Amino acid sequence: MPTQTPERTARPRRYLMCRPTYFTVDYAINPWMDPAQPTDTALAVRQWERLYWLYRRLGHTVELIDPVPGLPDMVYAANGATVLDGRALVATFRYPERAAESEAYQAWFRSHGYREVQRAGHVNEGEGDHLVAGGRVLAGTGFRTSRAAHAEAGEFFGVPVVGLTLVDPRFYHLDTALAVLADDHVMYYPEAFDADSRAVLRTLYPDALLADRADAEVFGLNAVSDGRRVLLPEAAKHLAGRLVEHGYQPVPVDVSELLKGGGGAKCCTLELRPA
Ligand code: ARG
Repeated sequence: MPTQTPERTARPRRYLMCRPTYFTVDYAINPWMDPAQPTDTALAVRQWERLYWLYRRLGHTVELIDPVPGLPDMVYAANGATVLDGRALVATFRYPERAAESEAYQAWFRSHGYREVQRAGHVNEGEGDHLVAGGRVLAGTGFRTSRAAHAEAGEFFGVPVVGLTLVDPRFYHLDTALAVLADDHVMYYPEAFDADSRAVLRTLYPDALLADRADAEVFGLNAVSDGRRVLLPEAAKHLAGRLVEHGYQPVPVDVSELLKGGGGAKCCTLELRPA
């Protein structure tokens, strides 16, 4: 716990989201997904809409991409690309079930004035595994995004990329194990990473907020911060308390239906960073 509570400042953001019109769980590509368990698409849409309006109320701008029938995971817009400096590096998905999403995201960026739009040449699941933290990108590998994709992202954006290896299949994307809270501050669940990555994180962020297993298991790390307000699942009560100690304002959101696909608030949100 910090000795003095730091002052945190919010910065208005621009996000891209995709309504879960066709959301369901009819295949399993991560341990949270169980096609035998029923899903309620209407409930998913209501929860998503509350998230959408919450961003608007907090002063953020939200753009929308049209959902495509037959692509139930498209609601997890964070996976569509990584956007920095007005450049979009579009995802290349690990599993065939999501492959066609790349086309839709690429078309969206092309038709929305993004001049530099590149489709990743290696498996790259966008912001699910690439988290922009100030002047660097923290990049996950181990389950989805390949290590070669990290180098490609570094070249495309011209910024240093710090590779981190995930080791627990339940935390298969970096954004399920780590959240960027401010340009120079993060929270993460150490056990989701291998020993080398834990050492790197300790060196880069000696004052990081360390989450425990219970926080991580309710998807508490799948959080969206604007520098001050931090949206995270309602169930992550303990983590919310810790965020207050660190000067943040936790904003609980109910994304229980979307968790059935293995994603929370962050997974549904792709940040668009202008040039
Ligand atoms: N069902 C999706 C998948 O397994 C969930 C993606 C969650 N997105 C994220 N950014 N973690 O690919």
